[in-house]
Amino acid sequence: MQLWGKMVCWLGAIFFGVGLVGVWGLAQGQSPTYYQDVKPILDAQCVGCHKTGGIAPFSLETAQAAQDKAQLIVAATATGYMPPWPPGPDSPEFLNQRKLSETQKAILAAWAQAGAPLGQAK
Ligand code: HEC
Repeated sequence: MQLWGKMVCWLGAIFFGVGLVGVWGLAQGQSPTYYQDVKPILDAQCVGCHKTGGIAPFSLETAQAAQDKAQLIVAATATGYMPPWPPGPDSPEFLNQRKLSETQKAILAAWAQAGAPLGQAK
């Protein structure tokens, strides 16, 4: 029983370490770029509503639009305001839920901080 608790504790420490290294790598290394890192997140999580004719008030479909809105995007995602997901953090897991991982939020933040670089179009 006690051994089990220790193992869980170690696993927690290891995962925490891996996460820190990941975020640190993001902060130190090349900053994320729109085409490489940001577009896939926006396409998967935001463009369903944020498109021309969509229910959201502005589109996030183009590089230009995303760049213009970089600061707003970070503010809205960091607080969890966007993407909208009415079930709360205590709700059970759902299929296809709209949620950003901490890593995805960190990518968006690092991208905006770096001045929202576009990078190489793929
Ligand atoms: C289910 C549809 C939907 C999805 C998915 C969605 N949005 Fe929105 N978003 C809206 C609507 C509707 C509004 C305007 C109403 C409001 O501000 O609540 C909005 C407003 C915003 C705003 C303006 C907030 C402000 O403070 O004025 C930002 C920035 C934003 N969205 C970013 C995002 C990002 C980034 C994503 C993906 C991570 C995303 N949204 C996903 C529907 C959506």
